[in-house]
Amino acid sequence: MSSSLVSAAREARERARATFSHFKVGAALETAEGQVVTGCNIENATYGLTLCAERVAIFKAISDGHAAFTRIAIVADTADPTPPCGPCRQILWEFAGDIEVILANLEGEKARYRMSELLPQPFDSRFLK
Ligand code: THU
Repeated sequence: MSSSLVSAAREARERARATFSHFKVGAALETAEGQVVTGCNIENATYGLTLCAERVAIFKAISDGHAAFTRIAIVADTADPTPPCGPCRQILWEFAGDIEVILANLEGEKARYRMSELLPQPFDSRFLK
């Protein structure tokens, strides 16, 4: 259910290490087998090495052996829901494909997209053949 995926992202958000921006984000990625892999944003003193919640979730999932995904929920404390940044869109597209993206704030779900809406005309491995 999407509400439990949003809850998992909201819980992951609490573990964010947003020392510099104070902008906490949580993500919860659902695998094709129905497992949930979460991520939170992790900042550090050099700023530039920051990892977004979405990339933490997908890289955790890939390294744990998951290869197929259905949905991702992303939670931030903003009135307008926070969409994934450009680099995260690229990584989500390449490793998760045209999954559903559920955007939520602390009140609950606010919007739904597909990755193909968020990243039209993507560059990916098809061009490298
Ligand atoms: N951030 C995410 O984790 N995901 C997003 O979708 C947008 C931005 C993080 C990166 C940084 O730690 C903080 O939010 C402010 O940009």
